[in-house]
Amino acid sequence: MRARTFLRKHSPGFQAMVIVVALVVFSSGCGRGSRSDKPPIHPNPNMDTQEKYKAQSESRFFPDGATMRTPVEHTVARGQLREDDAYYRGKLENGAFINTSPLNVTDEVRARGKERFMIFCKPCHGINGDGKGKILEYKYPIPPTSFYDEKVKNMPDGQIFDVITNGIRNMPSYRQQVPVYDRWCIIAHIRSLQERGLSAPDTLATVAPHQNEPGQ
Ligand code: HEC
Repeated sequence: MRARTFLRKHSPGFQAMVIVVALVVFSSGCGRGSRSDKPPIHPNPNMDTQEKYKAQSESRFFPDGATMRTPVEHTVARGQLREDDAYYRGKLENGAFINTSPLNVTDEVRARGKERFMIFCKPCHGINGDGKGKILEYKYPIPPTSFYDEKVKNMPDGQIFDVITNGIRNMPSYRQQVPVYDRWCIIAHIRSLQERGLSAPDTLATVAPHQNEPGQ
């Protein structure tokens, strides 16, 4: 009612203008908070239909017809520059294996290592690392190495890291299954096993407090 009294007080010209403005406002749907599935009305739509490529679409510009380009060689994704050779490759800058793990080997690290070892190494290398895992019952081409071999005892930590990462001869790579941090934990556990010796009872910790490290 108030709107009507307001209109009556003014000239017909003014009334017409108010009605036109109101119609424009409501029909263009730009009232705050109003929702519509239709595209908004743009007085000047020339930017709406610009030429552009969408992901996975065809290109008439590039000879291979693909819109999505292969990144330039040696491109590194943000946050993925693994400069630390010792930690990520177990090697010094000159390519030699590092002798000792870059981790500060705590009980937590050993416990995590034991837990991961039980999942990823035990089936072949055995619960004690003596090379007599379950796999022997299934005619694996050659028996897995015992971690009590002088060869493994004398191996630099970096070389064991390399074996887990890249595999060796008849052992597959575990780079996808075992993230970098866990590889070092497993190595800590293997060193504990070697120190303890094969005949001693299993007194190594079993808790696994560490979270998975994402995206290794
Ligand atoms: C599918 C079975 C399998 C699994 C799982 C496995 N290994 Fe092996 N590993 C082998 C075999 C087989 C060899 C002997 C390879 C050869 O000499 O051909 C070996 C050898 C090794 C060697 C000695 C390498 C050398 O230079 O002679 C190390 C160290 C080793 N494995 C560590 C690990 C660790 C740590 C894990 C767990 C992350 C693991 N392996 C998981 C089968 C396995």
